[in-house]
Amino acid sequence: MTPGVKPLVAGNWKMNGTSASLGELTAMAAGFGVALQEKADMLVCVPATLLFQASQTLSSAPISTGAQDCHAAANGAHTGDISTGMIADAGGLAVIVGHSERRTDHAETDAVVLEKAKAGLAEGLMTIVCIGETEAERKAGSTLDILKTQLAGSLPDSWEKGELVVAYEPVWAIGTGLTPTAEDVAEAHGFMRGQLVDRFGEKGGKIRLLYGGSVKPANAAELMAVENVDGALVGGASLKAEDFLGIANAYLEIA
Ligand code: 13P
Repeated sequence: MTPGVKPLVAGNWKMNGTSASLGELTAMAAGFGVALQEKADMLVCVPATLLFQASQTLSSAPISTGAQDCHAAANGAHTGDISTGMIADAGGLAVIVGHSERRTDHAETDAVVLEKAKAGLAEGLMTIVCIGETEAERKAGSTLDILKTQLAGSLPDSWEKGELVVAYEPVWAIGTGLTPTAEDVAEAHGFMRGQLVDRFGEKGGKIRLLYGGSVKPANAAELMAVENVDGALVGGASLKAEDFLGIANAYLEIA
């Protein structure tokens, strides 16, 4: 937690879900009660094919929807890509950029992620920039160096609109059931906070820092209570309302 910063519980459905999955969103809305709404914000980043329907499904619920990637350009000859304007037009209020699966599967560099982040913010979207070390980098003791490089290269110098959010997702913890210890998370998040304050001043002290990688109902309370952890970016456990709400409910336990 960061004093004065409202946590965000964000789901990333990745390449999962069809219109048959929209009922999970309805169940999330039903379970996201007033006491919890006061403690945390909730967001679900669905596949682009579902964004319009998901936004409609949640139109009267205090749960936002978002996309999982965008192109940096406003429009043009980029077959298969979607722009931030298209995301907003479909009802999305957020976009994830630089997820490790994009960095790996689509060879996205920090420079590419930076341009996408600029586009998301310019559209006024909450823009969640993902960073994190691989297992080999961790074993080599270079975790903090990687975070420093990725933060420096993926974040814009300034932004007028939207909200910049940073998600720390150790690549080795994604989808594996493995998580860093609370002490390791505290070290990484404390380091990131320092970098952000050095670069952005007071504004950097309030940027929401999410932890992602095998967050489950069983470990959420411990991870979310760590200093400078302002929420979660949840993959597998965001697909089912029961699990996702179980994670969010950790905030009812944290003082
Ligand atoms: P899991 O929660 O499935 O480990 O995925 C984390 C993630 O990559 C969220 O963006």
